[in-house]
Amino acid sequence: MNRLLTTILLLATFGTAVAKDYTLSTPNTTIILSAEQGKQLYFRYYGAKAEAADVRAAGRMMKYDAYPAFGTRCDAPYASLVKQHDGDNATKFVVEKVEKVDGNHLSTLSFWLSDVAHPNLVVKVNYSAYNDCDVVKINTEYFNNGKKPIVLQKYMSAVLPIQSDNCVLMQLEGNTKNENNEVVMPLPVGQYNISTTTASRIAQYFNASFMLGLDGRLEEQSGPVIAGTLIWMGNSHFEFYNTPVARVQTLFMGGINPAASDYTLAGGKSLTAPEMVFTYSSNGKGDATRSLHRWARKHQLLDGTKQREILLNSWEGVHFDISETSMVDMTRDFAALGGEMFVVDDGWFGDKYPRNNGTTSLGDWMIAPSKLPNGIRPLIDLAHSNGMKFGIWIEPEMVNNPSELYEKHPDWVLRHPDFEPTYGRGKTQLILDLTNPKVQDHVFKVVDDLLTAYPDIYYIKWDNNMSMHNAHSQYLPNELQSNLYVDYTLALEKVLKRIRAKYPNVVIQLCASGGGRLNYGFMPYFQEMWTSDQTDAYHRVLIQWGAMNFYPSNMLAAHVGSAYSKYTQRLIPIKYRFDVASMCRLGMEMVPAKLNEAEKEYAKRAIAEYKVIRPVIQQGELYRLVSPYEGKRDFTSLMYVNEAKDKAVFFAFRHFFKHDMSNIIIRLQGLNPDAKYRIREVAPEVASKPATINGKVISGRYLMEEGVVIPELVKGYTKNAPLGEVRAGNDCRSIILELTEIK
Ligand code: DGJ
Repeated sequence: MNRLLTTILLLATFGTAVAKDYTLSTPNTTIILSAEQGKQLYFRYYGAKAEAADVRAAGRMMKYDAYPAFGTRCDAPYASLVKQHDGDNATKFVVEKVEKVDGNHLSTLSFWLSDVAHPNLVVKVNYSAYNDCDVVKINTEYFNNGKKPIVLQKYMSAVLPIQSDNCVLMQLEGNTKNENNEVVMPLPVGQYNISTTTASRIAQYFNASFMLGLDGRLEEQSGPVIAGTLIWMGNSHFEFYNTPVARVQTLFMGGINPAASDYTLAGGKSLTAPEMVFTYSSNGKGDATRSLHRWARKHQLLDGTKQREILLNSWEGVHFDISETSMVDMTRDFAALGGEMFVVDDGWFGDKYPRNNGTTSLGDWMIAPSKLPNGIRPLIDLAHSNGMKFGIWIEPEMVNNPSELYEKHPDWVLRHPDFEPTYGRGKTQLILDLTNPKVQDHVFKVVDDLLTAYPDIYYIKWDNNMSMHNAHSQYLPNELQSNLYVDYTLALEKVLKRIRAKYPNVVIQLCASGGGRLNYGFMPYFQEMWTSDQTDAYHRVLIQWGAMNFYPSNMLAAHVGSAYSKYTQRLIPIKYRFDVASMCRLGMEMVPAKLNEAEKEYAKRAIAEYKVIRPVIQQGELYRLVSPYEGKRDFTSLMYVNEAKDKAVFFAFRHFFKHDMSNIIIRLQGLNPDAKYRIREVAPEVASKPATINGKVISGRYLMEEGVVIPELVKGYTKNAPLGEVRAGNDCRSIILELTEIK
């Protein structure tokens, strides 16, 4: 983003019949390709920073077709399959020219390849490297320079050969209220795919991200690791080959899912396959995560380095029961706790069809007079007079049948005209057909009308609660139906760009039944994403931990729900709920008036404390100490450290109490070994009784080499009765410590 082009070099230094090495480096990694005009482009190396001579001498230069096409080695995996206008589908790509562009933080090598048999087909394979983060990006652009249409049947973004036959794969899988579970397995022999097919709620089941441990292990602090993620708001497809025919030990390809996506490219047109982002670490997956977070905050996430507000969202508190009284009470009560923003969720709209449940009204974005007779102006003003900001929920890509919008424009929905569509939520929901320019205008207008009428709306929650069950456009002609998945995604991007051009500052949260749209593709348009609807704080540890492998804490919204989670029927004390939500962007999602006095006092303290530690949590480097997915799984710990390493925030959670628990030693990471840190407990359960470690001074070296034991989390029963509604049991205890260097 914002890259400043300083030089464009045409590196057409061909003529000698010798392939030339092309090298790009980040601070700690190197990628090498070799090219010779009229010959295949070869991928040679991706790994720790190195000179080409060392890589060659060490036997680490690979030689694999950098962008294999169907037609040259048809028995091997291919990234490209193109059906020409004459029906031919064999391609042989050779190098035409090489370009280098040096930008502010980014250098890009572009290799132009043309098809020997059909010179109308040209691809440009781009490799970019950052000079301030260990991130490289790869993508491919397709050009049809002929007059007649061609059909792209497979058009992968990136091909990454890997010199290891002993990889361990980590991916994220899950579902609504159970998103982003970390799954680790040895990469099986053969071909293994991770594909997403839900099209709009794209990350509902699988995330378009992975990590690979390259020497038979995937460890936090050691070993070679490659992590990758696709920047694409549509269906994605990853292929991992662990087969002899791949002719390298492991081959990765990633890009748009080609399933039902044959893309007709008219003469003179081009299609840019989305960028794959990779990072390489010689020091385990902890470093890989930090490189991605750093890159996301600096270069991809909108307002990635700006502070995020603490908000109360109305959803879990009142669901569709929006009324002026309930909203006024929530605003006032949250302000009294120190909150910074109030957000009215679903249920505020619909005139002819007021939104009382999930079966009606999407599309009718007028305030429901039956629910808010005075509109939202008094609510916005009330928030302001209480020193808070105001936000509101919409689901602009959707419509219900019934709604006034559907009555007017039944042809605006995705569905086949000849049979009943498959409905989504409420058995009445459908997706609007964004390939239709009139629908694009409508979606833009939903946001534009709201922000024109109420320019002081600070925050929008943009929801999306349906997968694309009916992948048929009533706008596209039949011969272009298989362009739909791609064209919907490009149209969505067009609308988001239009919104951002007019409203660059409004904070927009992306939600898809929880974390169903977590993808780097949305980051330039949305400052944050809703991590999950799961209200059980223990369950959220697993979800947040999984998501944080790839996504930084400041873009993950985490809210404190009520003590009883209706989704798991677990009762959880307020301190643990606050501590879990404080790992990310803190918020609340309950009726604050239902808290008892002790809980209110605690919430007030926890919110005030979050404001103190927020810069380290939202901008610091994440260090994972004890995983909830490994070992005994009854304990979790992580920490954030600021850039200067003079402040850190440490979290530890005891999820489940066992009699006579062993002394769990937690070794810290990321500190300055030569510094001494004063330790302060953040928001203890009882203000006057902090943990025994409170006030102690310990060296960074000791904390990292020998670690700490927190007696309150491992010994016996906790003496203080937990606050509030939850009076019994010793499960779900936690601690937050702030570490400050003594200078
Ligand atoms: C699904 C979201 O995940 C919830 O947080 C809430 O906004 C509902 N939609 C509203 O319908």
